Amino acid sequence: MAPSKLHHLYVLDFARHFPEAEVHGSPDLPAKRPDVPWKGVLDDTPAPGWAPDLDQCLVRGNRYLDEVVFLHRETRTMIVADLCEQANAEWPLASRIGGWIAGIYERHGPPLDMKLLFRHDRKATRRTVEHILSWDFDRMILSHGRLVESDAKRTFERAYAFALDW
Ligand SMILES: [Fe+2]
Repeated sequence: MAPSKLHHLYVLDFARHFPEAEVHGSPDLPAKRPDVPWKGVLDDTPAPGWAPDLDQCLVRGNRYLDEVVFLHRETRTMIVADLCEQANAEWPLASRIGGWIAGIYERHGPPLDMKLLFRHDRKATRRTVEHILSWDFDRMILSHGRLVESDAKRTFERAYAFALDW
C-alpha cells in the first residue's frame, strides 16, 4: 500500500519485486504514478484481503493530503504517515529547527502548514477526526517521529482538538 501521494517513491520497486502482490494506493496516486500497476484505490473500506485485521480511514479536508490511515485492531495500533508527526533531538539540527517552527518539536501533531491547509474544508476535517477517534487504539506508528507506545488516542485527540470545534 502507498498510503498517500507523498509516500509512494519505492512502490514500483516493490511491485516489480513481488509481482504476485496487489498494489493499492491513495486516491491521487493513479494519476500521479501511472507507471505503477495499481490494483485498487484506498478509501474508507478495507479490501477483503486485509479487512479481517485492519480498518482504514481516508483523511479528508486537506487537498494536499490524500492519506489513508489504518487501525490494526488486534494490537490497537493506528498507523499513519504524515497525519501526525513529531520532531525530536535525534533529528539533524535544520530539521529540529523546522520542527520547532512547525510546532511539532517534542510534540505529536500536524505540522503548522498541514494544520492551516485543513482549514480548506473544516467540516470534512472534523468528520475525519471524529472517525479516527471512534476507533479503539492505544499505540501509534508514524513515519516522522517517535512511535507512541501508550495513550495514543489521547495524544491524537489533543493534537486535533482544534478540528473538533469546527
Ligand atoms: Fe511524510
